[in-house]
Amino acid sequence: MIYVCTACKKRLDNPTKPLGLCPCGKPLSVHYDWEGIEEDIDVKIDDHSLWRYKRVLPNVEKEDIVSLGEGWSPLIPMAHHIFIKDETVNPTGSFKDRGMAMAVTMAKAQGVESICLPSAGNAGVSAAAYCQKAGIDCHVFLPETIPDSFKKATDQYGANIILEGQTISHAAHKMLESKEENWFDISTLKEPFRVEGKKTLGYEIAEQMNWELPDVIIYPTGGGTGLIGMWKAFQEMKGLGWISGPLPRMVAAQSDGCAPVVKAFQGLEKSTEFWDKSNTIALGLNVPGPLGGNWMLHVLSECNGIAVSAKESDLEKATEDFKKMSNIHASPEAGVVWSAYQSLKNRGWIGLNEKVVLFATGVERC
Ligand SMILES: Cc1ncc(COP(=O)(O)O)c(C=O)c1O
Ligand SMILES: [Zn+2]
Repeated sequence: MIYVCTACKKRLDNPTKPLGLCPCGKPLSVHYDWEGIEEDIDVKIDDHSLWRYKRVLPNVEKEDIVSLGEGWSPLIPMAHHIFIKDETVNPTGSFKDRGMAMAVTMAKAQGVESICLPSAGNAGVSAAAYCQKAGIDCHVFLPETIPDSFKKATDQYGANIILEGQTISHAAHKMLESKEENWFDISTLKEPFRVEGKKTLGYEIAEQMNWELPDVIIYPTGGGTGLIGMWKAFQEMKGLGWISGPLPRMVAAQSDGCAPVVKAFQGLEKSTEFWDKSNTIALGLNVPGPLGGNWMLHVLSECNGIAVSAKESDLEKATEDFKKMSNIHASPEAGVVWSAYQSLKNRGWIGLNEKVVLFATGVERC
């Protein structure tokens, strides 16, 4: 396994300590010696967690794996060629468990004793749960506006909670001010393994669709790890010969209360600009200044995808409609996805017979 900077392409082999960002300040991504070498599909079919894709994940001893049974969530077929990836069934109720399972496993294997991160809510709950399981101290920085249900869910796993400001960006600022030397920072894209966990979404969708990918995937986008991770998975699978044909067009769905990726995409920019006074009930999408803005925009251009925003004023209704349609007790991020689906369908961007995967990324916490 090697680490490569996503921006300056610097390569880091055999690091002696857990790596965060590249010295140039941009995210690192991990690569493997099997990439691009064709081989038969290799899935551990009796493992009902994301570790069924052990073949394409970092090589860790079985006893070092920190798992709560994350991943291998259902892909539910609905009418009109829609499939719903139901991530609410994960151990702490959201898809964040995939990234945290991998990041905490790797941190533990590398001797980390304390972890810190800012969170819009779900990532903090998830990190707390995996750190408790691993015996690692966990410091979670949340916005003051966070609903009690998230605080309680984080607290039950014994994490240290610090509240600051209105959004994850303010909480992140506070974390950098108060961070102690031995705290390992697992913020979105500041270490490379959360993406490795999230990439299993791509492998699962492929396996669940019999190794034939959908035409379109609609993903509620905040920091972007899922979008980036799935795209990495598709590239890897193509190189391995596990899939062929065109790759899905990815859709980054945001609320118009916080849509830095949509604004940059529409303006043909290469990076995102900080979104002032962001506000949305889809708390996971209230990420006004994502570190991976340019990486997401790059993925959208490579896959012929698009970024679209949902009207914040319609979000409550869209979420209720999604819940009724799917019977999944999903959080408002799913309303953003549902709204994006409808507008793209109406505009003809999604064709009549195209297969579309919609994400329910988290459970409604109240
Ligand atoms: C329920 C939910 N959906 C979507 C997201 C956005 O995920 P990402 O930051 O990977 O884009 C989050 C992030 O907090 C979330 O909690
Ligand atoms: Zn670099």
